[in-house]
Amino acid sequence: MATLLHLDSSPLATSVSRELTREFVENWKDAHPAAQVIYRDLAANPPKPVDQAWIYAAFTPVETRQPEQKALLAYSEESIAELQQADEYVFGVAMHNFSIPSVLKLWIDQVVRGGRTFAYGPNVPKGLLLGKKATILVATGGVYEAGTPTAALNFIDPYLSTILGFIGITDVTFVTAGGTAQLMSGKVDRGQFLQPHLEQVRSIAV
Ligand SMILES: Cc1cc2nc3c(=O)[nH]c(=O)nc-3n(C[C@H](O)[C@H](O)[C@H](O)COP(=O)(O)O)c2cc1C
Repeated sequence: MATLLHLDSSPLATSVSRELTREFVENWKDAHPAAQVIYRDLAANPPKPVDQAWIYAAFTPVETRQPEQKALLAYSEESIAELQQADEYVFGVAMHNFSIPSVLKLWIDQVVRGGRTFAYGPNVPKGLLLGKKATILVATGGVYEAGTPTAALNFIDPYLSTILGFIGITDVTFVTAGGTAQLMSGKVDRGQFLQPHLEQVRSIAV
């Protein structure tokens, strides 16, 4: 059964990135009527930061891992199983301080694990999540279009491309709704602002 993993990371109920992922999921479900969607709201249920006990547990060979170490890794294992099970991913990403929300970084720290999502090889590490497709739906207050002076301040696209590629996910599409600050100031109508972005999302949610 086709499976989509849907993550949201914005803390806001009025979030633009959440509206884009909702549109994506609705359209994707129409295109895959028998499919399954796994949902994680990272803002509502933030992953824990990795701490010393977690790191020791992750680096303890699975055969000798103690029950309490297994418990510490339970969220990580569950999240990795979701990444393995899903064929496709859609992530809603709010720009916070030129980068991703901290809850998404916490989730990344939980799922990027040697021997689980990447393998140490003789030369460079090798990603293990192969044949997957990711769509990243981003909302930013400012505008960071390629070729503009502010483009270099966008750390979301380069970081997510790099870290997803590191674990094997190289088919990554970004759609960015840039300039949401205009909505806050009331200068621009939300429906008008969103329309082209929602259309773009519908066209790729297949
Ligand atoms: C804590 C915080 C930090 C932000 N940092 C930036 C930033 O560095 N650059 C920017 O353009 N917008 C920034 N914004 C504005 C958000 O990117 C914008 O509101 C966007 O729509 C957030 O996505 P969302 O609507 O899905 O929550 C920030 C907003 C918050 C709440």
